[in-house]
Amino acid sequence: MSLSVVNIGELVTNDPNLGAGTLGLLRDAALVVEDGRVVWVGPSSRCPDADENLDAAGAAVIPGFVESHSHLVFAGERAAEFEARMTGQPYAAGGIRTTIAATRAASDLALATNVTRLLGEYRRAGTTTVECKSGYGQTVHDELRSVSIARCHADDATLLAAHVPPPEYAGRADDYVRMVVDEMIPACAPHAAWIDAFCERGAFSAEQTRAVLEAGRAAGLGVRVHANQLTAGEGVRIGVELDAASVDHCCHLTDADVDALAQSTTVATLLPAADFSTRNAYPDARRLLDAGVTVALGADCNPGTSYTTSMPFVIALAVQALRMSPAEALWSATLGGARALRRTDVGHLSPGARADLVLLDAPSYLHLAYRPGVPLVGRV
Ligand code: NIG
Ligand code: FE
Repeated sequence: MSLSVVNIGELVTNDPNLGAGTLGLLRDAALVVEDGRVVWVGPSSRCPDADENLDAAGAAVIPGFVESHSHLVFAGERAAEFEARMTGQPYAAGGIRTTIAATRAASDLALATNVTRLLGEYRRAGTTTVECKSGYGQTVHDELRSVSIARCHADDATLLAAHVPPPEYAGRADDYVRMVVDEMIPACAPHAAWIDAFCERGAFSAEQTRAVLEAGRAAGLGVRVHANQLTAGEGVRIGVELDAASVDHCCHLTDADVDALAQSTTVATLLPAADFSTRNAYPDARRLLDAGVTVALGADCNPGTSYTTSMPFVIALAVQALRMSPAEALWSATLGGARALRRTDVGHLSPGARADLVLLDAPSYLHLAYRPGVPLVGRV
């Protein structure tokens, strides 16, 4: 079964061999899809025959967004904490414990329903690949069911074994880490692709983060880290040292952090919607890009710091607040996200790629940043 999409006003392929610039832009283009894969890309006038045809009528087509950082397995919400922040209280990692209590009390069905609700939001806003973390259970039982639900519904599941020391381990974070290493990781690793830890004041120290990530890696998981979000800690350096696919947040970086990233294959994933919702400092995207670091953008949907699933919003924010160009922001939200997940089949529309097409109700991808807040995703 094949489908051709013709009369695409502007096609973003993210393949510089197919079109202009880093985005591999083509005008008056077409593509053919067969069995869920892109099989042909070229000028609309030369499009081969297909079983079915779709006329894009001059609209722009982009690859689906790739969300490499989300926390969807949770119960409850924290609007009151948001209100407190917006009326003067600073964000601290401790609010996570409110969601841990609600998540532990929720049924598997309630958690799965929440995940599918949020995945539906992501998809309607143009996201076709979503990584999903556990992290609001923090017991073997609750992390196991969280990661199993994430794996069942999302594209990639991450065991966020060390999110924040749970209340029963208050003042005993080392004991918690020992339990994670000895019990949680062995039980959960078969159900996850990645291990993650929140290296931050109020969450886990550099030594604790390293212990968790090394144990996850030894159990066969790829590494990702919540790093340098609120303070210039050691998360980024630990991530690079352990060959993390991605270090995420990166709001407070030293020159040594930037150099280490530039010489590595680790992606810096920026989550400006979290900084927006916490009124914290935005990361310096220009410094990273100018140093040659691969930058991804994510929405970081979670009930505490970033309760949004809108990658178009993140793109608009990245262009305004992080001073990324519209092209850099779109690349980072698509192929950048794929790199952060070490995926080669998504985030671009070269022949062989997964046929994750987003038709915009707009003539150009520029409208994603030019028309902030407007739902421009016509068809996924
Ligand atoms: O990515 N930084 C840690 N984890 C989440 C926040 C989780 C929460 O506050 O519930 C984040 O921002
Ligand atoms: Fe996060």
